Amino acid sequence: MSRIVIVSNRTPGKGPAAGGLAVALRKVLGEREGFWFGWSGKLAEHPAQEARFEDIDGLKVAQIDLTRDDHHAYYAGFSNSILWPSFHLRLDLATIESHWYEGYRRVNQQFARALLPLLQPDDIVWVHDYHLIPLASELRQLGARNRIGFYLHIPFPTTDALYAIPHHEDLMRDLSRYDLIGMQARRDVAAFTEFAEHQAPSTFGGHQVRAIDFSRTEVEAFPIGSDPQAFARLAVSPAATKMIHRMKRSLGEQRLILGVDRLDYSKGLPQRVEAYEKLLANNARLRRAVHLLQVAPPSRDTIKEYQETSDTLDAMCGRVMGHFAEPDWQPLTYVKRAYGQPSLAGLYRLARVGLVTPLRDGMNLVAHEFVGAQDPEDPGVLVLSRFAGAAEIFPDALLVNPFDTDETAEALRIALDMPLDERQERWRALMDAALEHNVDDWALGFLTRLAPSPMDKTSHTRDFLYLASVA
Ligand code: F6P
Repeated sequence: MSRIVIVSNRTPGKGPAAGGLAVALRKVLGEREGFWFGWSGKLAEHPAQEARFEDIDGLKVAQIDLTRDDHHAYYAGFSNSILWPSFHLRLDLATIESHWYEGYRRVNQQFARALLPLLQPDDIVWVHDYHLIPLASELRQLGARNRIGFYLHIPFPTTDALYAIPHHEDLMRDLSRYDLIGMQARRDVAAFTEFAEHQAPSTFGGHQVRAIDFSRTEVEAFPIGSDPQAFARLAVSPAATKMIHRMKRSLGEQRLILGVDRLDYSKGLPQRVEAYEKLLANNARLRRAVHLLQVAPPSRDTIKEYQETSDTLDAMCGRVMGHFAEPDWQPLTYVKRAYGQPSLAGLYRLARVGLVTPLRDGMNLVAHEFVGAQDPEDPGVLVLSRFAGAAEIFPDALLVNPFDTDETAEALRIALDMPLDERQERWRALMDAALEHNVDDWALGFLTRLAPSPMDKTSHTRDFLYLASVA
């Protein structure tokens, strides 16, 4: 069987992980030969030419150091101040400094040069996320003939938002060098297809147009999942039970509404707190009877927009406290730190409501993990943004428009008042969906499509032609 080489910006580390990617992929490599390749997390004076191998909790991980300037342009700059906001349709929060593209490109070249010598001819290369869109192009330029797949963990943007990205033509051409592109949701494939099939005229007049040929690239939705059974076990583990007891002591009879997110403007945290404020304002009977716990470990905090989101959230939480708190009752707790999975599993299990309301999200694995951790006899209710990829998987959640805080407040009330039989019925349907879309099948589905055995091989090629301007 071919080896699998996973490539991502961050490699798996030790300690609590804020995102679900590391947890999901660690499992894939635990079961197949191969290694993980990525940034070491270290900055060096000169860009590393060769990768260093390390054993991280039994995984073979090859890592390279980046220079400070390259890392800034590639990560905080092009990836997280241009691609991230644009792909999440927050052009208002994008900082378009097109020179960052050079650093982004340079780091992708550095990845390719360090990775190529480690590859065997029939290795299957699986590249992850928006940091590394050009990697297949760069590897192919150096002569790689391997099957190379790309998985986008975040949403694919609408055509207009894509046009706002400097060098978007290059990026689309880079995507055409992959054999397979996986997206989180049908919505993302539709956006990609829209772009590929209906090209706008070139941005600047007078240039020739050249077709980008997507006919060798398959594009398909592979919604990522979690391991709901593992979460079910974790939720009754000693560490989870300890967290449950600790929380029960402080909550007493109050029902818990729980949010767990990286501190990111795409997560809709201020809107969420506003919805909670409206819940308390509209339903006096719920004061002293509920408590919102928002766990939000800071991320990307060198970027101004993230600091501003953090400040806005501080102010919102302060406002709700000032308005509703009493000497012996606090309406909410806001915790800016990361917790390990066992503690989170305990919190999920205890919560009456899982509040997962991003403004836009690739999938959202918190929704999956919340479902996995519930007590089948007394499950909580998932209130879920219709703009998370997870909404395509979980129609039995209470789906809300997170921009409409009245609607979210009302969904919270319905969730809190929901009778046990309806909670059980909805949870059963959610758990069935979480089991059907588990992470093992996700990885297997992607890898089987990327490198089918000769028996399975059917042609799935599509005829996307993209007319791009050639500067
Ligand atoms: O959701 C996209 C993603 O890149 C995840 O893959 C990752 O876990 C998370 O964001 C954290 O991002 P960063 O590496 O920038 O902290």
